[in-house]
Amino acid sequence: MLAIDVRNLTKTYTVYQKREGLIASVASLFRREFKKVHAVEDVSFQIERGEMLAFLGPNGAGKTTTLKLLAGLIHPTSGTAKVLDHVPWHRENAYRRRFSLVMGQKNQLWWDLPAQESFRLHQEIYRIPADDFRRRVDELTSLLEVKRLIGQPVRELSLGERMRMELIAALLHSPDVLLLDEPTIGLDVVSQRRVQEFLRKYQTERKLTVVLTSHYMKDVEALCERALIINHGEIKHDGPIAEIVDRFSQHKIVDVQFGGSDWPTNLERYGTVVNATRPRAKIAVPRQKIPQILSELLENFRVEDVGVQDRPLEEVIAEVFESESNSSREADPAITEA
Ligand SMILES: Nc1ncnc2c1ncn2[C@@H]1O[C@H](COP(=O)(O)OP(=O)(O)O)[C@@H](O)[C@H]1O
Ligand SMILES: [Mg+2]
Repeated sequence: MLAIDVRNLTKTYTVYQKREGLIASVASLFRREFKKVHAVEDVSFQIERGEMLAFLGPNGAGKTTTLKLLAGLIHPTSGTAKVLDHVPWHRENAYRRRFSLVMGQKNQLWWDLPAQESFRLHQEIYRIPADDFRRRVDELTSLLEVKRLIGQPVRELSLGERMRMELIAALLHSPDVLLLDEPTIGLDVVSQRRVQEFLRKYQTERKLTVVLTSHYMKDVEALCERALIINHGEIKHDGPIAEIVDRFSQHKIVDVQFGGSDWPTNLERYGTVVNATRPRAKIAVPRQKIPQILSELLENFRVEDVGVQDRPLEEVIAEVFESESNSSREADPAITEA
């Protein structure tokens, strides 16, 4: 059963563009120039119930805008979306109770109050029965190991602790859909891992539908099987994470350890040298040339050990983003009179 069904979703912002120079500034008092930014452009995707999907893309790709649309915080310019059969921007109460949005860069808890006060506020808003509420707080605070901190003002907590409190607040009303926007941004490695572990465990038990945006591949590899790659507001890939490297990387890494005093004088002729510390070399080689390069190496040198590896997901994705970043995302500059 589908949890999320997005069809041709587009969000275009019209932003005022300031022109350089005094004369231009004065002129623009009379004639304002605007440009259109396609934050999300004709995006379609479907997510099954209980699926955990990663939303990948460089800064400005349109990830946050998509999540804001799914949370009903903003209206689209065109297109439709249904989340659990609700149109998010209709903002029905029945929908509010079924999803949560957590933004790593935004605080939803009251800064000067202990987290438990914010939790109580959520209890009121979502009308959570007292018994359920107590049980949920208990369960979540122990799963996230922050039980002893719920009486402390939020501003005194570390970023990692605060993020865990944010997650608790978001999950108190047992939503079926969880939208996570960079939930581990700025966290140290230990806190990052904790949040990952919690999410994995919680999701496995509860079968929530989760959409996660992150530019940390570690989060993504740990949690999701499927990824959408979005860039310039458009979807570039939708499929298993395992396929990304296959699809976008034309190279593999040949990792050779030479024996004795053997060492090729010009390693570059075999491929792009990633790392060379005698007696070991890592060379990026175009996939179709691998058999040929391997046999050349084995024929001409004493080789102690050799392996062929995929390039790391992180690197491949960075490259996909890079290659896209040259094309412009701006619409034809629309000049409008104000
Ligand atoms: N409120 C807004 N007004 C104008 N432009 C916006 C607004 N929100 C986002 N954008 C623009 O839309 C694009 C996508 O932004 P965003 O969805 O935040 O990207 P991401 O989360 O992938 O980094 C960016 O170019 C951004 O500057
Ligand atoms: Mg964002």
